[in-house]
Amino acid sequence: MKRVVVLTGAGISAESGISTFRDSGGLWEQYRIEDVASPEGWIRDPRLVTDFYNQRRKQLLEVSPNYGHKGLVELEKYFDVHIITQNVDNLHERAGSKNIIHLHGELTKVRSERFDNLVYELTPDKYEVKIGDKCERGYQLRPHIVWFGEAVPMLGEAIKLTETADIFVVIGTSLNVYPAASLVHYVPEGKPIYIIDPNSIAINNNNWHYIKKVASEGVKELMKIITSTTQ
Ligand code: OAD
Repeated sequence: MKRVVVLTGAGISAESGISTFRDSGGLWEQYRIEDVASPEGWIRDPRLVTDFYNQRRKQLLEVSPNYGHKGLVELEKYFDVHIITQNVDNLHERAGSKNIIHLHGELTKVRSERFDNLVYELTPDKYEVKIGDKCERGYQLRPHIVWFGEAVPMLGEAIKLTETADIFVVIGTSLNVYPAASLVHYVPEGKPIYIIDPNSIAINNNNWHYIKKVASEGVKELMKIITSTTQ
């Protein structure tokens, strides 16, 4: 089976009702990155940061995977599909995808602010974290999210996977944020790259195949193209 590696971003969850970051009306118009997505913001006002992620978790309980997520599960019938997502939601998991790497962390987990390896899973009935909730060694719990300025622990694995792709697909990411955006440079030469996005994105390349559609429609079209031309 050929291997399809898919890099996803906020756009794949847009049709589920989760707003993207940089589109008009996106999250970064309402909040400042340095306040809610940086280690400095956490030190300055952990309550604000905790509230921000509690809101994101509450919203996640109210939404469901859309055909963009589900279509990638269907693709597993024909290809060895691996997803590298920048999203912190769990919609790929809930759709049923088998292989998922979260580059920027996961909303449904928290960890000790002192010991990175003390990671805890939140449950839908207890998704809210409070200041004063501590790890087993007595340190405050923080979101299990990769903030700006922090290392991206899953990057090495994502690069290795990208280097084994027969087909590389990018869905719903503006490719503005590095190192995630740099993954496209690790796709082996000569292997096709498909971009699914209704809008133009930061990087333009004449050799890439652009499917200018929303994720649900774009994944259907991708499926048609790659199941008829490659397997
Ligand atoms: P952006 O908000 O930067 O980009 C979203 C992309 O999705 C844009 O290119 C949109 O055109 C596209 N889009 C919008 N609606 C879509 C739809 N229905 N179907 C398909 N595409 C659609 O989001 P990301 O690129 O994911 O990091 O942002 C990358 C990182 O920046 C995030 O992981 C987050 C953010 O700051 C952290 O918080 C660390």
